[in-house]
Amino acid sequence: MKKLLFVGLIIALVVMMGLNCLAAKKETGVIVVGCDAAFPPFEYLDEETGELVGFDLDLMRAIGAELGMKVEIKNVSWDGIIPGLLSGNYNVIASGMTITEERKQVVNFSDPYILAGLTIVTRAGDESIKGPEDLAGKRVAVQINSTGDLTATELQQEKGIKIAEIKRFTHATDPFLELKNGAVEAVVMDLPVARAQMNTNPGIYKIVEEAFTTEEYGFALRKSDTELLAKINQALATLKANGTYDQIYQKYFGE
Ligand code: ARG
Repeated sequence: MKKLLFVGLIIALVVMMGLNCLAAKKETGVIVVGCDAAFPPFEYLDEETGELVGFDLDLMRAIGAELGMKVEIKNVSWDGIIPGLLSGNYNVIASGMTITEERKQVVNFSDPYILAGLTIVTRAGDESIKGPEDLAGKRVAVQINSTGDLTATELQQEKGIKIAEIKRFTHATDPFLELKNGAVEAVVMDLPVARAQMNTNPGIYKIVEEAFTTEEYGFALRKSDTELLAKINQALATLKANGTYDQIYQKYFGE
């Protein structure tokens, strides 16, 4: 009898361990993505479906499908997006994030997945701003801690362009409202995002010039997450080679 009980116990233990293993496997089968979904066309809320969509998110979902992993998207604040990654709230940032040397000290980036750059936006009809030097004496709005913020700050503090005031906002869409309302004269913003705002608000804004910086976006991961990083890079290469990347690109940037 005792022996039977013992064997029973062993069997139960083995089954439990197996189940545990399965559960752990399931867990690694999910990519939890953090994004600040107020950055169309890269990540935003589709008002009609209530779904989070955009170039980055479609691409991330395609990467997940390629890897046989589920993709779960969390909408978070841009300002805390790197701390949130580091504290484990998600394992990938897909949020139009520019690969910078400074950020590379803290996170790992995937291979670049798209090229962008900053531009200056004014109100339509304003002829007084033609380039970064003309921001002298003007009020400028940016998203806080974005490369737009960092670049405007650098123009002001290091390049000797006397920008009157830099107003920093939580959401990337806020600087445009500020400009529309006449509270600032210019916005420094990623060009594709500026274009999207122009299209949804016809006749209101003007893009001063094409991009005056060159930037590459990458997905950001914790430094320790090298295995997932390699998988994402591999999947990205596959999607670029098999036409899926182009399809997603056309969907958001095609004429
Ligand atoms: N590309 C800019 C940066 O890396 C702005 C990105 C903002 N992204 C967003 N989802 N709000 O700083």
